Amino acid sequence: MEIQKYQTLIDAAKAVRKKSYAPYSKFKVGAALLCNDGEIFVGCNVENASFGLTCCAERNAIFNAIAMGKNKFRAIAVVVNSPQPCTPCGACRQVLNEFNIDDIDIIMVNIRGKTKVEITPLSELLPRSFDAKSL
Ligand code: THU
Repeated sequence: MEIQKYQTLIDAAKAVRKKSYAPYSKFKVGAALLCNDGEIFVGCNVENASFGLTCCAERNAIFNAIAMGKNKFRAIAVVVNSPQPCTPCGACRQVLNEFNIDDIDIIMVNIRGKTKVEITPLSELLPRSFDAKSL
């Protein structure tokens, strides 16, 4: 049921993954972010010859949404082709947390072989988080 609910989001992440710029790691990632109002914003990872400048798919989707005036997020789908579904990196968890209202659903999808989908709330991936209330 949950997976069906997020099928459009997963499809958007799968599609944008194809646009990933990952000539160094060859690890293509697509992310699709669902806003409270139902709108979807996408992002892919963008690497650089100066490796440290790489930006993850998740943060690109979030920054894209913010630039379009949205900052209330319900869920994010992350699509990879790897042995297991991939969790967002620590930096992306922290950036997602900045815009966490009702605990964002993280939908992790692995398209290698038979598609695998795992859904977990951000609070499980980032317990005892540092946020505005910590200041
Ligand atoms: N990457 C993402 O885009 N999202 C993640 O959740 C994990 C890692 C990217 C960064 C880099 O381009 C490549 O995957 C390998 O780390």
